[in-house]
Amino acid sequence: MLTIEERHEIEAELPRYPNKKAVCIDAMKIVQRHRGWVSDESVRDIAELLEMSPDELDGVATFYNLIFRKPVGRHVIMFCDSISCWIMGCDRVRDHLSQRLGVEPGGTTSDDRFTLLPIVCLGACDRAPVMMVDWELHEDLDSQKIDKLLERYR
Ligand code: FES
Repeated sequence: MLTIEERHEIEAELPRYPNKKAVCIDAMKIVQRHRGWVSDESVRDIAELLEMSPDELDGVATFYNLIFRKPVGRHVIMFCDSISCWIMGCDRVRDHLSQRLGVEPGGTTSDDRFTLLPIVCLGACDRAPVMMVDWELHEDLDSQKIDKLLERYR
């Protein structure tokens, strides 16, 4: 069930949009900010509030890759897996992260500290390879830089 706070925050968005359905991404972001991810139950509750079907809302959630439909760790690392970053060695970034964290892309560390996810172009191609940790962009990555960065996130 949505909390009163979540419901109020979603309803506060309604006047900014032409119809209820158009609020759906913001609504899922609100729930994700409170809970860390968007469960099936939350999808049903948000869909009901916005007069959509759960399948319709789930389709949006699946398309929009910044909505997490499974529990994630305390910090989410999203490494760019698109063309400029490929050219500049994002496979080394991915392999180094996987080795340091002990998880494959898509996985969460056993202490729930990090979830590692690939993502499409982050719009910083001139500073490739890049990754985002908790929505903060990190550029021109190499192994030493990654090691130092990981220490910042507890
Ligand atoms: S391809 Fe990685 S930021 Fe654009």
